[in-house]
Amino acid sequence: MTSRPGLPGYPAEDRPFTRAMRADGRPATIDDYIAAGGYEGLRRALDLEPGEITSMVTESGLRGRGGAGYSTGRKWSTMPLGPDAPRPKYIVCNADEMEPGSFKDRFLMERNPHLLLEGMLLAALATESDAGYIFLRQQYDGSAAALEQALAEARGRSYLGKDVLGSGFPFDIQLHESIGRYICGEASAMLNALESQRPNPRARPPHMTGAGLFSRPTVVNNVETYMAVPAILRHGPDWWKGLSVTDEGGTKVFGVAGRVAKPGCVELPMGVPMRELIEVHAGGLLPGYGLRAVCPGGASTAFVAPADLDVPLGFSTMGEARSRLGTGTLVLLDDQTCPVGMLVNMLQFFAQESCGWCTPCREGLQWMASLLEDLEYGRGEPGDIDVLAEGVWFMESDKCFCDLAPGAMQPLESALRLFPEDFARHVEEGGCSYRRRGSDAPAMRGTTW
Ligand SMILES: Cc1cc2nc3c(=O)[nH]c(=O)nc-3n(C[C@H](O)[C@H](O)[C@H](O)COP(=O)(O)O)c2cc1C
Ligand code: SF4
Repeated sequence: MTSRPGLPGYPAEDRPFTRAMRADGRPATIDDYIAAGGYEGLRRALDLEPGEITSMVTESGLRGRGGAGYSTGRKWSTMPLGPDAPRPKYIVCNADEMEPGSFKDRFLMERNPHLLLEGMLLAALATESDAGYIFLRQQYDGSAAALEQALAEARGRSYLGKDVLGSGFPFDIQLHESIGRYICGEASAMLNALESQRPNPRARPPHMTGAGLFSRPTVVNNVETYMAVPAILRHGPDWWKGLSVTDEGGTKVFGVAGRVAKPGCVELPMGVPMRELIEVHAGGLLPGYGLRAVCPGGASTAFVAPADLDVPLGFSTMGEARSRLGTGTLVLLDDQTCPVGMLVNMLQFFAQESCGWCTPCREGLQWMASLLEDLEYGRGEPGDIDVLAEGVWFMESDKCFCDLAPGAMQPLESALRLFPEDFARHVEEGGCSYRRRGSDAPAMRGTTW
């Protein structure tokens, strides 16, 4: 995987996520980070009131980078402040990243760990929080090592501890490695997991900023969300807004997985079109391969047809292509990979990861995965395609307790819409013609799962 801190044409100063990264690929040390302007946002924030920090984040327009795109400033502004607020209050970082095809948080944590610590410190100052947790995907050994090193360096220089930079503000961060289930990435299930409870999602209300970890006010944000905040504090919200090519503000770490010349991550302005990301930054498809569709934000986003490749990658723009930005890591479907076979792969994953709490997801995902397997292996019947379409309806978000099952339906719903002839051919020809031709190699080359 060829993840690159940046590219000619986008100067380092305009790449807040990657500018401190080392050219040799090792994690940026505290000295590398400080030399690139690191911890300046924190120094500035120590002279501000909590509400002023949150106002800057709100004004920047920053939206959460974990997939749903909720306003970060608005979330922080619902934390209770002042002497009467319940204590302790917590800052939790969602570093679970088990979304198939997504690997941006791993890239960021392995290469620029202090940026995450500074972002969490700023969230803690803004919300007057007392302690932080990083909830890390189980398999991310490289991220764990980089973060442990950064935590030790930060404590050694008083950026973390009982008295941050002599300001009287106490804050420290613990690293918690996940037990390794996809549902632990759902923010409320994550809090249950941190409490050593079974990781089922929680009912809302109460919202987590009212009663979260150990029933205390808690902010949960994605790795990349926290990492966006130091530059907003250092340079101001207007500078951040000016970085993007649409009105959503900032840069973003995008990724490409699939049969391209250079799969990996790259930091680019928010709003860059999918075509530029694939053809320029990922080097285009490998010789002999054509593009059939793209899941723009991991496996739980709808496929987009090549005709929509010029739609800007953004939270509000991706609706034009009937999809979502999600994590912004593109999963490509090429013309030598069977869409039905790729869906078998995806649905088996989601079915295995259902937490089992609600019936449509627990029973429905297994059923859909086995129907797709039947089609793929020549056991499909003409009515199966209608049953799949009906199953999509059964797993809409108003019928499920969390977004795992509705997310799992997005690639299926869009594939039924974009590739009806492929499904029909599986029934007519008694299975997958790609498989018979021997071209069913893994569809997600370049991913980390
Ligand atoms: C099944 C499932 C898995 C999720 N996995 C992740 C994840 O790995 N990382 C993440 O940041 N958000 C994940 N989310 C979204 C979180 O619930 C939550 O919206 C997010 O952490 C909020 O952070 P943000 O506002 O910074 O995006 C997942 C959601 C669901 C339903
Ligand atoms: S939708 Fe699935 S993962 Fe979410 S609560 Fe229901 S059973 Fe659990």
